[in-house]
Amino acid sequence: MIVQDEQDRKALRKIGQIVGQVLQTMIQAAKPGMTTLELDTLGRELLDKHKARSAPILLYNFPGATCISVAPAVAHGIPDQTVLKAGDLVNVDVSAELEGYFGDCGASFVVPGADDDLAKARAEHVGEGRVVFDQIVGSIKGDLPFFRLGQIMQQRAAAKGFTLIRNLCSHGVGRHLHEEPRLILPFPDFEDKRLLTPNLVITIEPFISKGSEEIVQSTDGWTLIPRHAEDTVQFEHSMIITAKGRELLTEP
Ligand code: CO
Ligand code: CO
Repeated sequence: MIVQDEQDRKALRKIGQIVGQVLQTMIQAAKPGMTTLELDTLGRELLDKHKARSAPILLYNFPGATCISVAPAVAHGIPDQTVLKAGDLVNVDVSAELEGYFGDCGASFVVPGADDDLAKARAEHVGEGRVVFDQIVGSIKGDLPFFRLGQIMQQRAAAKGFTLIRNLCSHGVGRHLHEEPRLILPFPDFEDKRLLTPNLVITIEPFISKGSEEIVQSTDGWTLIPRHAEDTVQFEHSMIITAKGRELLTEP
């Protein structure tokens, strides 16, 4: 959507802060021994408390209030009896609606309590992935061409030795969870003549991988897994583009 007035701006900030805080609370609560369903129940109760409606349930009849993906899964994981273990690489994505406005955010993290080589490598991947994400977000401003944004995403990831999943995109958000502009690609498409314009509301959500460029759907019809199960992290914020930068809506 394009922000038209203060009412739009306030409502986007409100739902953005709710999903951002729910995400943070869920990440902090994730402990070894907890099931992903228990973690989802926490998210569901927090959304209920704020009278926000889970977007995956509202729009897709998804079997969970939030998406919780345990590696190798990285997106659209269904909360279930899976028990979190120390050192698991997990992605939580929280999206919800309040008063007709949507917010969407996500983050990857390592379940605390392990210090073996795999857990250390994963913690490093999360840390470096966050740096790449912050660099990409920091480059966003009004009048930036979409192809240039795709180029920045690819270059920032490659500079740290990561690949990006090419068949998952960032997107417009606001009055719907997924709306125009669609298909904000994580690589440059020089045919794409679109520009980011002030007051446009989008997500940025690169999937930053140790080698994979393609996601495949698992047999449950939801869960998304990198083709050869390479560890992949994702971070997502919803934001309003401004002339000189961006306002992060989902940063608590
Ligand atoms: Co999301
Ligand atoms: Co999204």
